[in-house]
Amino acid sequence: MKSSLESFNSHTYQAIHAVLLVFLFSFSLKYAAPAAFHGNETDKLALLGLKSQITEDPSRVFASWNESVHFCRWTGIKFGPREERAIGLNLKGLILAGIISGHLGNLSLLNSRHLAENSFHDEIPPQLSRLTSLQYLNLSFNYLTGEIPVNLSHWVNLENLVLDHNTLVGQIPYQVGSLTKLVKLYLKNNNLTGIFPGSIGNLTSLEELYLSYNNLEGELPASSARMAKLKLLGLSVNSLSGEFPPPFYNLSSLELIALSFNNFSGNLRSDLGHYFPNLQKLYLGSCQFIGSIPSSLANASKLLQLDFPENNLTGNIPKGLGNLRNLLWLNVHRNHLGYGKHDDLDFLNSLTNCSSLKMLHLGDNQFVGTLPHSIVNLSSQIQRLLIFRNRIGGSIPREISNLVNLNLLDMSNSNLTGRIPDSIGRLTNLGGLNLVSNLLTGVIPSSTGNLTELVYLYLPRNKLKGNIPSTLGNCNQLLILAISDNHLTGTIPQQLIALSSLTKIYAFYNSLTGPLPGNSLQGTIPNQEDLQDVQSLDLSLNNPSGSIPHFIANLTSLLYLNLSFNNLEGELHLQPCVYQETQKTRKKHVLALKYILTIVFAASFSILALLVVFLRWRRNLKDRPEQEDRSESACFNPNISYEELRIATGGFSSENLIGSGSFGTVYKGTFTSDGMVVAVKVLNLQHQGASKSFTAEYQALRNIRHRNLVKVISACSSSDFKENDFKALVFQFMPKGNLDEWLHPEKEIHEKSSLTILQRMNHNRCGLCTSLSSPSVPNTHDSL
Ligand SMILES: *[C@@H]1O[C@H](CO)[C@@H](O)[C@H](O)[C@H]1NC(C)=O
Ligand SMILES: *[C@@H]1O[C@H](CO)[C@@H](O)[C@H](O)[C@H]1NC(C)=O
Ligand SMILES: *[C@@H]1O[C@H](CO)[C@@H](O)[C@H](O)[C@H]1NC(C)=O
Ligand SMILES: *[C@@H]1O[C@H](CO)[C@@H](O)[C@H](O)[C@H]1NC(C)=O
Ligand SMILES: *[C@@H]1O[C@H](CO)[C@@H](O)[C@H](O)[C@H]1NC(C)=O
Ligand SMILES: *[C@@H]1O[C@H](CO)[C@@H](O)[C@H](O)[C@H]1NC(C)=O
Ligand SMILES: *[C@@H]1O[C@H](CO)[C@@H](O)[C@H](O)[C@H]1NC(C)=O
Ligand SMILES: *[C@@H]1O[C@H](CO)[C@@H](O)[C@H](O)[C@H]1NC(C)=O
Ligand SMILES: *[C@@H]1O[C@H](CO)[C@@H](O)[C@H](O)[C@H]1NC(C)=O
Ligand SMILES: *[C@@H]1O[C@H](CO)[C@@H](O)[C@H](O)[C@H]1NC(C)=O
Ligand SMILES: *[C@@H]1O[C@H](CO)[C@@H](O)[C@H](O)[C@H]1NC(C)=O
Repeated sequence: MKSSLESFNSHTYQAIHAVLLVFLFSFSLKYAAPAAFHGNETDKLALLGLKSQITEDPSRVFASWNESVHFCRWTGIKFGPREERAIGLNLKGLILAGIISGHLGNLSLLNSRHLAENSFHDEIPPQLSRLTSLQYLNLSFNYLTGEIPVNLSHWVNLENLVLDHNTLVGQIPYQVGSLTKLVKLYLKNNNLTGIFPGSIGNLTSLEELYLSYNNLEGELPASSARMAKLKLLGLSVNSLSGEFPPPFYNLSSLELIALSFNNFSGNLRSDLGHYFPNLQKLYLGSCQFIGSIPSSLANASKLLQLDFPENNLTGNIPKGLGNLRNLLWLNVHRNHLGYGKHDDLDFLNSLTNCSSLKMLHLGDNQFVGTLPHSIVNLSSQIQRLLIFRNRIGGSIPREISNLVNLNLLDMSNSNLTGRIPDSIGRLTNLGGLNLVSNLLTGVIPSSTGNLTELVYLYLPRNKLKGNIPSTLGNCNQLLILAISDNHLTGTIPQQLIALSSLTKIYAFYNSLTGPLPGNSLQGTIPNQEDLQDVQSLDLSLNNPSGSIPHFIANLTSLLYLNLSFNNLEGELHLQPCVYQETQKTRKKHVLALKYILTIVFAASFSILALLVVFLRWRRNLKDRPEQEDRSESACFNPNISYEELRIATGGFSSENLIGSGSFGTVYKGTFTSDGMVVAVKVLNLQHQGASKSFTAEYQALRNIRHRNLVKVISACSSSDFKENDFKALVFQFMPKGNLDEWLHPEKEIHEKSSLTILQRMNHNRCGLCTSLSSPSVPNTHDSL
């Protein structure tokens, strides 16, 4: 395995040079006075110098850069009023490949120094530092390597420096502090190391500073208090440390503070909210903050998002947060909140005043007490309500049906009692319902069948009784049904097993009886095609009787079948060793071993057949740090079927279309088992190279844990229902800003495979880790 990965890596590394680079840059030069001496000729030569180093030009921009046209008419060039000098160059998004020519440094006449031989291939040529008139420089989303040139200090007129999404290394040069006109500084998604330079504090005009997704360390310097105009500050996903940086308390203009995934620690000052009257988004997740949530946040009345997951916060949620009328998002997942008192949840009452609330995540804390009925008065806008893994008792109120926009409801691993209210059937937007491990009694309401958007239904480990409602057969998006470990009786309704969407049924440890569906005694045998998607069927520890229906042997997609401890009789002739992997379609990577089925008639235990080996590298896929070490989670097949993606994307509907490009189309999807929101890139296989790109891209992505990148969660390589090859990649969904990465595989491969690829590999992660008990909330840090 290792050697194949290594050889793969060297293969990808070479592939970088063959692949199209996305060369996306534009900058403008301030209009300089009319040429001193043949200035226009110098500009022309410089532009030809640029052209000469372009190796790929798919849209043939440079064909127009020829002698038959005056160079002031060449595409992408902007000239000054007297058409003397080039003042701007915009070649954004043209998929050019090559290197940035040092000749571009000649576009200004101000420097006549000797031009160094250009051996910087993928680096930012230092000659660019001659462009002292530069106001705007955008080289983002390229493959630029090397360090940020220290001579950038010559860019004294620069207002926007945008170098994000490259693989720049080294420290942020302290000279950046000379760019005192800078308004935007974007260096995020690079491999920068070292400290946050104190000189950045000199940038007193700065409004937007993004250094997130790098490897910066150390504390924030006191001088950062001087950036008085700063509005957006993104420092997430670095290794910065210290307390919540004291200098920030001087930055009262801040609207966004993103510090998640760093090593910050200590208490948050209780008066924190008073210092940020303009604050809209506060992201402090996955650090080591302790103490309580500052009650003063109630006074930061513009707050939209509060995100504190995975810290060591104690105390409770301040009731005053109910004053935040605009609050959309409150996430305190995995802290130590709650006093263990019966009134722990009283704050929920005040949150009913947050009339825009869309997401409330209280999971994995220490809240006890009774679920307040007032949750039914939370905003009807609420889409995600997660309170799992606390010790919350009480019952699910009937009026929960007020929350008509709920898409994900997770109250698992609590102490809830009473029945599942019939009214649950009115939550028709529900995609995931998780009530695992409670003390729920009564029946599964037949109204559950009205939840036609439901993708998973998890009810194991309760005290539910009665029959499995046949109405569940109406849930035609249902992918996983887990009802094990209850007191259910009766048969598995045929309507259910005939659901073509269903892939997994966990029904073990109940008192199900009667013949298995499909048995000829039970009416017609379901259409083969209907059954072909079921991958797992676990009916162990029940009491069904009669003979094992033969159709089970024909379920070609079945990966897991457990009929042990039942009263079944008869023989089951499974197909031996099916190993279908053609190079073209790589359909089902399933090696079904041989089976043996022994039968013990009328005895209360017997047998079983079961087998399955995944031919996959499933161990190394988990790359979502927030999902690690869930004791109750179960990793299923990390690869996803066409059908799952079809469901997640609403049949690849145009509503879910978020973009398309030459390599494919990107859809937003709400993912099955855990409610995760994902971006699904369906590759356009007509495009030359797309297929090759798929393999390379997936391989590169899945083996590397690199925080700079949109995370690939899984991949699907199979055929669609028309037996056409179908290939798709599934990415973690980030609401904004990453479309380029989804659409341009070439870039991802490049970023991932450069230089330190082996160092970045991590084999201990599992991509789609479908947790039965804890749906994760997608990372919505749209603006880190
Ligand atoms: C350069 O400018 C001079 C006058 O300013 C003009 O005569 C000449 O044609 C220009 N050359 C080019 C290549 O535009
Ligand atoms: C840029 O200027 C340098 C010297 O200033 C010269 O050597 C070089 O040839 C020029 N490049 C172009 C493309 O004009
Ligand atoms: C030169 O560019 C023009 C358009 O700007 C184009 O029509 C012409 O075909 C080009 N000539 C050559 C030789 O490519
Ligand atoms: C940077 O600027 C300094 C002084 O202007 C000069 O000596 C040095 O050669 C420049 N370095 C590069 C790489 O251009
Ligand atoms: C910029 O900041 C550094 C470090 O804080 C300081 O030493 C230097 O004097 C400052 N320069 C300017 C021009 O303000
Ligand atoms: C920060 O604010 C404090 C008072 O809140 C003030 O004393 C201090 O001078 C400020 N620091 C800067 C660098 O503005
Ligand atoms: C909010 O501000 C008001 C007025 O400054 C103050 O009286 C109140 O105590 C503050 N509330 C909190 C929760 O800090
Ligand atoms: C909601 O706001 C109203 C008006 O400000 C207030 O009277 C009421 O007490 C608040 N309700 C809760 C539960 O905080
Ligand atoms: C919900 O709000 C309505 C109207 O404000 C109120 O009459 C009702 O008592 C509230 N229900 C609960 C359970 O708090
Ligand atoms: C479910 O739908 C049926 C008709 O489709 C309707 O009669 C019934 O009232 C619904 N049940 C609930 C709880 O909404
Ligand atoms: C089949 O189910 C029984 C009872 O639930 C369980 O003990 C056994 O481990 C299962 N077999 C496999 C191979 O999973």
